[in-house]
Amino acid sequence: MDMTEILIRPASAADKAAVVEFTQHTWEHGDYIPEVYDAWLVDPRGPLLVAEEEGKVIAIGKVTFLGPHQAWLEGLRVHPEHRRRGVARRFLAHQLALAREKGAHVVRLATAWNNFPIHKIVAEQGMCHVATFVPFIAEAEKGPVRSCVLSSVDLDAAWDFVLASDVYRHSARLYDQGWAWKELDKERVAEGIQKGEAVGWHRQVGDGLLAGLALLSHDWYDEDALRISWVGSDLAEMTEFAHDLRRVAAARGLQKVHTMLVDWPPLRTAFIAAGYKPGSEEEFFGLWIFEKFL
Ligand SMILES: CC(C)(COP(=O)(O)OP(=O)(O)OC[C@H]1O[C@@H](n2cnc3c(N)ncnc32)[C@H](O)[C@@H]1OP(=O)(O)O)[C@@H](O)C(=O)NCCC(=O)NCCS
Repeated sequence: MDMTEILIRPASAADKAAVVEFTQHTWEHGDYIPEVYDAWLVDPRGPLLVAEEEGKVIAIGKVTFLGPHQAWLEGLRVHPEHRRRGVARRFLAHQLALAREKGAHVVRLATAWNNFPIHKIVAEQGMCHVATFVPFIAEAEKGPVRSCVLSSVDLDAAWDFVLASDVYRHSARLYDQGWAWKELDKERVAEGIQKGEAVGWHRQVGDGLLAGLALLSHDWYDEDALRISWVGSDLAEMTEFAHDLRRVAAARGLQKVHTMLVDWPPLRTAFIAAGYKPGSEEEFFGLWIFEKFL
C-alpha cells in the first residue's frame, strides 16, 4: 500500500458512526471508545485524530496534554480490515510529532501487559516500558481511623516524604489520575491537601514523623468507591496504613477502595495482608506504562 494515501486529521462528529462501527468488537467485551467519543471530540487538552484512506476512516487515537509538557496517548484503534499495513506505526509517529510540536517534553501511554503488537510498535518509536500498575480492590471497613487529613503546614514534609519514598521511584514518579498516569509534583500534593484528599500516617512510636501518605480522589467509574491515586509508606507501616485506608473509605460513607498499585512485590504483599485483592480476574494482569522523552 502507498502510505502517502493516508490522511491523519482531527476527528469530527461526522466520523463517529464509522468509528463506532469498527470499534464494536475491539475486545471480547466490546470497547469504551463509543462512550468517550463525544467528550474526546471537545476535550480542550488535545485532539482526537482519525486516519482516513480514500474517504474512509480506518484508525483513531487521542492525544491529551496532562500538563503543558506531558502528553498522554490513548485509544489507538485500527480498523480490523486495515491492520498489518503499517497504519498504527504511521499514526503513532504522527502523534509523537504533533505532541513535540505542541510543546510536549515527554509522551506516555498505558497498555495491557500482553498486548504484544502495540509493545512492538511503540518500542519501534523509542518508547520504553517504565512501570507496571495492577488494580487492587478492598471492602471498606468500619472502625476508628488513625490516618489524619493533612493541612498546608504538612506540605513540605509530605513532599519530602514523596521524594524519598520507594514507591515514587518504582512508579517512574507517576500517579494514577484515571487510566492516565501523570508526574507527581509538589503542586499535586498541595492540591490534595487543599481539597482534604491528602491523608498522612504518622509513626506511633519513636519520632511520630510522617511514615505514609495517600492521595485520594473520587473514583471515576464507581461512586461508592474511594480511589487511592498515590500511596506510599515506610514498608514496616504499609499494611497497617493500607488497612486504615479501608476505614477512611467507610468513614467517608463509601463501600470500597480502588487503587492501581505499582507492581513492586513488597507493596503488593502489604496490601494483600491488609485485605486487598487483585481487581482483575486475569492472573498476571498489569498495565504497562511506556514513556519517551522528546
Ligand atoms: C495494535 C494495532 C493498533 C496495530 O495496528 P496495525 O495498523 O495493524 O499495526 P502496524 O501494521 O502498524 O504494525 C506495525 C508492526 O507491529 C507489529 N504488529 C502489529 N500487529 C501485530 C500482530 N497482530 N501480531 C504481531 N505483531 C504485530 C508488527 O511488527 C508490525 O510490523 P509488520 O507488519 O511489518 O510485521 C491494531 O491491531 C489494533 O487496533 N488492535 C486493537 C486495539 C489495540 O490493541 N490498541 C492498542 C491499545 S493501547
